[in-house]
Amino acid sequence: MASKRIAPSVLAADFANLQRDIEMINKSEADWFHIDIMDGVFVPNISFGMPVLRDIAKHANKTIDVHLMIVDPDRYIKTFADLGSDVLTVHYEACTHLHRTLQAIKAEGMKAGVAINPHTNVSLLEDVINDIDLVCIMSVNPGFGGQSFIENTYKKVKQLREIITANNADTLIEIDGGVTNKNAKQLVDAGADVLVAGSFVFKSTNPTQTIQELKEIINE
Ligand code: DX5
Ligand code: ZN
Repeated sequence: MASKRIAPSVLAADFANLQRDIEMINKSEADWFHIDIMDGVFVPNISFGMPVLRDIAKHANKTIDVHLMIVDPDRYIKTFADLGSDVLTVHYEACTHLHRTLQAIKAEGMKAGVAINPHTNVSLLEDVINDIDLVCIMSVNPGFGGQSFIENTYKKVKQLREIITANNADTLIEIDGGVTNKNAKQLVDAGADVLVAGSFVFKSTNPTQTIQELKEIINE
């Protein structure tokens, strides 16, 4: 079993000290950069856009995992590929032709991810599971950092793990929202591969050490 990953969410970084926070992630035991793009339409918040991602990508030396919380994401697939995204995740709820969108993401050389809101059942992904590189299970309603973890997530992770195994897929399961040292172990035990952590990392007194602590918890 490949080692479990931690993806700090840059949304919780200090944007006035972004380079400092990126270098912190570079030097830490974190595996990926998680980048939240919000359009104020799909979710009730606007985060940051292309110029900021371009500058993050200039400094980041790890996998760039982009989470698009935007309507009609097909419009920007090529743009995000050109900006240096390694994984591009779209929302199930924002895609009318999800299968086509996944192929378009892969055609641009990126890994294709699908995020599902807390109310969306994992079984809806069964018919495309072999086309998905990563499923991001939202463990909060998307739009803001710092929200509390929804406990029903464990059940969803187990159900998705069963679907992946039954279909002999190699899809990764990512968890996004409210991840802390209190739920990390139970999430990987349920079958998660990648844990996104924003506030828990950046609001801690020593983010580097917090990342290390999470890594130890999930790989013990
Ligand atoms: C929420 C975002 C998350 C967020 C997680 O819409 O998708 O990635 O940054 O932040 P925390 O870990 O603070 O819940
Ligand atoms: Zn996210």
